[in-house]
Amino acid sequence: MKHLKNTRQTVLKASRAYYTNRAYYEDLLAQRQRRIAVLNKRELDFLEHAFSAHATHPVSDVLDVACGSGRHVFELAKRGYECTGLDYTPERIQIARERAKREGLSVKLLQGDATRLSYDNEFDAALALYVLFLLPNDDDVLKCLSLINCALRPGGILVCNIGNPFYNGKQWFSLKAIHEGLHITEDRAPGIHGTEIARIREFDPMHGVAWWQETSIIEAPDGTHVFRDRQRLRLFTYWDIIHYLQVAGFKEIKCYPDWEINSRKKPKAEKLVFVSRKD
Ligand SMILES: C[S@@+](CC[C@H](N)C(=O)[O-])C[C@H]1O[C@@H](n2cnc3c(N)ncnc32)[C@H](O)[C@@H]1O
Repeated sequence: MKHLKNTRQTVLKASRAYYTNRAYYEDLLAQRQRRIAVLNKRELDFLEHAFSAHATHPVSDVLDVACGSGRHVFELAKRGYECTGLDYTPERIQIARERAKREGLSVKLLQGDATRLSYDNEFDAALALYVLFLLPNDDDVLKCLSLINCALRPGGILVCNIGNPFYNGKQWFSLKAIHEGLHITEDRAPGIHGTEIARIREFDPMHGVAWWQETSIIEAPDGTHVFRDRQRLRLFTYWDIIHYLQVAGFKEIKCYPDWEINSRKKPKAEKLVFVSRKD
């Protein structure tokens, strides 16, 4: 097995290739799959709850760091928020721009790196969803969270999330998934069928880092495609994120298991969602 380097450039290049290859098809699935519509609504309802329960003033301007093809910013824009979405993969931003045009939605969409944000007191809320695990190293995670803190107005909030490494079920990146070997998942929607065969390699338990290698076979309206890619993944624990949020200057940090508003203690939740406030 070829050793995979963890340098910043290698990690960013791998992630960009992964999302470039899948950009069009992920967006198509997201538009056509009922499961994703249900998940989106659940996450959006949660976000609005977090805005009203945790920010000290009404939320109007929202920054989505690593917005992908815009599933959160578009729904927030429809609900009346002023949104800015930024993503590292230009192809995803391009797809988001086309969708904004098609649907007549006004959202600012920019290509950019989550660790190189340059905003100052401009937003009431920020999102960093399904992205922290992809940042090249822990210094970058801290940099990203600190820059988001700068981007927020006092009293504004950040909503970010991680996969829980102690989750016991299928489908999400966890210690269990690492030990199980091969993962095969299927995604279907009218006119599109994706099969992903994934394996986690080179898990480094000291640093909580691994490489995810995936072969995707996509049968879509424009033909059948096979992509072979890899991504570096960082497994964070609850305590890692609390620590990074505190060092980045956030206060009043609350963790919600699996997007549940009435959060009960659930150490084996699949996803942990953190809401934290800038003083
Ligand atoms: C799993 S997707 C999540 C997208 C979106 N937040 C969502 O929930 O649908 C991860 C996204 O992070 C982006 N990404 C990875 N590294 C990044 C970085 N350093 N800066 C900004 N975006 C990044 C990828 O291009 C990809 O669109």
